Amino acid sequence: MAYRRKDRFYRQAKQEGFRSRAAYKLQELARRLRLFSPGQRVVDLGCAPGGWLQVAARAVGGKGRVIGIDIEEVTPLGFPQVQVLRMDIFDPATPGRLRELLGGLPDVVLSDMAPHTCGDHDADHARSVELVAAAGRLAAELLRPGGWFVAKVFDGGALSDLLRELAASFDDVRRLRPEATRDGSRELYLSGRRKGGKGGRA
Ligand SMILES: C[S@@+](CC[C@H](N)C(=O)[O-])C[C@H]1O[C@@H](n2cnc3c(N)ncnc32)[C@H](O)[C@@H]1O
Repeated sequence: MAYRRKDRFYRQAKQEGFRSRAAYKLQELARRLRLFSPGQRVVDLGCAPGGWLQVAARAVGGKGRVIGIDIEEVTPLGFPQVQVLRMDIFDPATPGRLRELLGGLPDVVLSDMAPHTCGDHDADHARSVELVAAAGRLAAELLRPGGWFVAKVFDGGALSDLLRELAASFDDVRRLRPEATRDGSRELYLSGRRKGGKGGRA
């Protein structure tokens, strides 16, 4: 079953020209949360190889802007509205570089970042929580009031502390598990909206 499911999304991604099967997770999250609309500014943390960039670029269209960051290189995608920074999100220069490129406050900050897993569930969970906490701090600093933060995390014992930390900056913090998640995977997604309003662009 796990193999068939993986195979379906993998094959579909190849056929539809997506760089990753993860693209289907973002499509589902976007549908459920109504994340995107044309013209928005989006930040994608941990964007390589680029499946989420493709989904976000199509959703915001040519008048939108999508800035991706990854420590790995991303082969250009051919969307003029997408720019990629090869950076570590822990680099203190990251928020400044993002602001320069965004040209305004982002509407959505996404993180599909994952640590290099070592097979020790507790250690992998702890490193994943560190990445989400850092992504959440960056999102809280950058997002417009009411803007969305969505991040992947590996489930484990520190999740409730992480949810509490996120709840200080984001309203309506929720857990979601998209259908394209592999059977048996410990990953889930957290979403929230930057406190301070649900209205339009700041
Ligand atoms: C699962 S992949 C993302 C897949 C992507 N959403 C897609 O659809 O193609 C996770 C990425 O997080 C990146 N990453 C991990 N730690 C990072 C960090 N500290 N700063 C920037 N990127 C990081 C990894 O290099 C990796 O490319």
